[in-house]
Amino acid sequence: MKIRLAKKSDKDNILRFCTDTFTWGDYIDRVFDIWYQEPHGELLVAEESNDIVDRNGNGNSVLEPNRQSNRDVNNITITANLIPNTAKNVQPIALSHVILCPNKKRVWIEGIRVKQRFRRNKVATTLIDEMLQFGRRMGAIEASAIISINNTASRSLFEKKGFNSISKWGYYNIQLNGSKDSRISISNQSRNALKIRIAAIEDLDNVWDYLRCSETYHLSGETYFKAWRWYYLSYEKIVDFIKHQNIIIIEKDNKIIEGVAIINYTGYWDKTIVFQIVYLDSTSISKLQALLFYCIDLYAVSLSDNNKNYDNDNTRSHPHSNSNQLQIISYLTNELSEIMNNFEIIDSAQFLLYNLSL
Ligand SMILES: CC(C)(COP(=O)(O)OP(=O)(O)OC[C@H]1O[C@@H](n2cnc3c(N)ncnc32)[C@H](O)[C@@H]1OP(=O)(O)O)[C@@H](O)C(=O)NCCC(=O)NCCS
Repeated sequence: MKIRLAKKSDKDNILRFCTDTFTWGDYIDRVFDIWYQEPHGELLVAEESNDIVDRNGNGNSVLEPNRQSNRDVNNITITANLIPNTAKNVQPIALSHVILCPNKKRVWIEGIRVKQRFRRNKVATTLIDEMLQFGRRMGAIEASAIISINNTASRSLFEKKGFNSISKWGYYNIQLNGSKDSRISISNQSRNALKIRIAAIEDLDNVWDYLRCSETYHLSGETYFKAWRWYYLSYEKIVDFIKHQNIIIIEKDNKIIEGVAIINYTGYWDKTIVFQIVYLDSTSISKLQALLFYCIDLYAVSLSDNNKNYDNDNTRSHPHSNSNQLQIISYLTNELSEIMNNFEIIDSAQFLLYNLSL
């Protein structure tokens, strides 16, 4: 088999076998162009190799010289053997993407797809090997991936490669009903009874102390969610989140923090604006619920402000249109599942975060 970097011209062939991958379809059509261009990563394809001559004669996978511009990251040159792609009508049979995370210590593996009739031939295994090699070349010390809890094939694939599941995450996409939502009034009650607010820079050390002692933080693999990748929730990242008013805290009278939520308004892939809770952590179910409702209130206010602006100037684009949905991605606890039963859930799923030391 031959593993090489994807070319733009592979897209149509690849999308042909990446449409009905899961019961809900697939997302590769929305990310192919992004992954192709994204720096510090490799978008790989596997090709059948029957009609390709391996000049080494050793059957090893090879890389072709027709590389993406981002191929040599940090001036590190790939040392794999280069063989001109002379074969005609050779089409991709599999895809995967790997990217070096901003902390430069972890590579994130995603989007493994093998064309149905080529499965169980170690194609995915070979792609993972290539992605792990990429990680080592980049100086990363670990590789991670997120896998649906129901995807036994993929879980077995990663476990066979030595990956361990380090945390379990819940994803919920809920429908918000604005002021008609009776649960918002519970939110107001909670807000009066409990001290909840957006964290300021003065809260930084208290937030950090809370997280470092938090069981949820450790069980989350010390990570938060962003655009279907999990990143380290480091001290520097907390500073950044606080500066952007993305951290909500709940505290006791003596200013001791008892819960943290992190929100994010940015879009990803083809979505322009998505409101998400990307980390949720508290010492009790009532406080977890209060944090959640506070975030929902914040979003409701931002939606109504946005609508007012839009009414005043309807020539502008309307970033929140049709977006009265909230995504919650959090370390999964029984308490969270219980709270989520109160909402109108559009879709939900559970995922495992897998890790391997390189
Ligand atoms: C999961 C998938 C990538 C596996 O690709 P593949 O090339 O068939 O995998 P490999 O041949 O390298 O399999 C390696 C090991 O993974 C496990 N595995 C792979 N497919 C499996 C299946 N259908 N059922 C159970 N275990 C499976 C086995 O342990 C296998 O080793 P074995 O064949 O010696 O038993 C492929 O089935 C696929 O594209 N699925 C749809 C997309 C998907 O789920 N991607 C992963 C998203 S995280």
